[in-house]
Amino acid sequence: MTQQSFPGEDFSRRFRNSLGMFATGITVVTARTPAGEPIGLTVNSFNSVSLDPPLIVWSLAKDLPSRALFEGCEYYAINVLAEDQTELSQRFASRLDDKFAGLACDEGVGGVPLLRGCCARFQCRNTARHEGGDHVVFISEVVDFDREARAPLIYFGGAYRQLKA
Ligand SMILES: Cc1cc2nc3c(=O)[nH]c(=O)nc-3n(C[C@H](O)[C@H](O)[C@H](O)COP(=O)(O)O)c2cc1C
Repeated sequence: MTQQSFPGEDFSRRFRNSLGMFATGITVVTARTPAGEPIGLTVNSFNSVSLDPPLIVWSLAKDLPSRALFEGCEYYAINVLAEDQTELSQRFASRLDDKFAGLACDEGVGGVPLLRGCCARFQCRNTARHEGGDHVVFISEVVDFDREARAPLIYFGGAYRQLKA
C-alpha cells in the first residue's frame, strides 16, 4: 500500500506540503538588541528539547535581516500565541519597520520584551547555535516561564486554525 501521490508537485512543493501536515502552535520570538532595540519574528519551528536541564529549540532562516541581531542577543523570549492573536503572527512575520508599534509589553530577563495575552512565555538564554542547511538552530536554556489558560493558535497546512473542543 503506497500513500497518495500529488502529480505536478516538484520536490520543494511536495516537501513543504508534507511538512505542513505537522500541526504546530505559533510563537513570536522576541529579544532586545545591545543597542536597546526590540526585535521579533513569527516562528513555528519551536519545540522542547530537554526537561533537565530545561532546553528548547527553534530555527532561524539564514537569509533574514534579523539573523545577525538575534545572534548578538544573549537572551530572548518565546511567546506562544493564543487563538485570538493571528494579527500578532502576521505582524511579526512581516517586514514592518517597527513591529512593536502600539504594543504594550512586559519586560523579561535582560530587558527582553514579553508579549501579553499569550498562552505561555519562555524566557531563554542562548547556549548553543548550529548551522542546519539554510537555517541556524538555536538551543537555549529556559530561565523563567509563565502561562495562562488560553486556547492556542494552530498552524496546519499553511493556514491558521483553532482547536476543536
Ligand atoms: C506561521 C509562520 C511560521 C514561521 N516560522 C519561521 C521559523 O520557524 N523560522 C524562521 O526563520 N522564519 C519563520 N517564519 C518567517 C518569518 O516570520 C518572516 O520571514 C519574518 O519576516 C522575519 O522577520 P524579519 O524580516 O524582521 O527578519 C514564519 C512565518 C510564519 C507566518
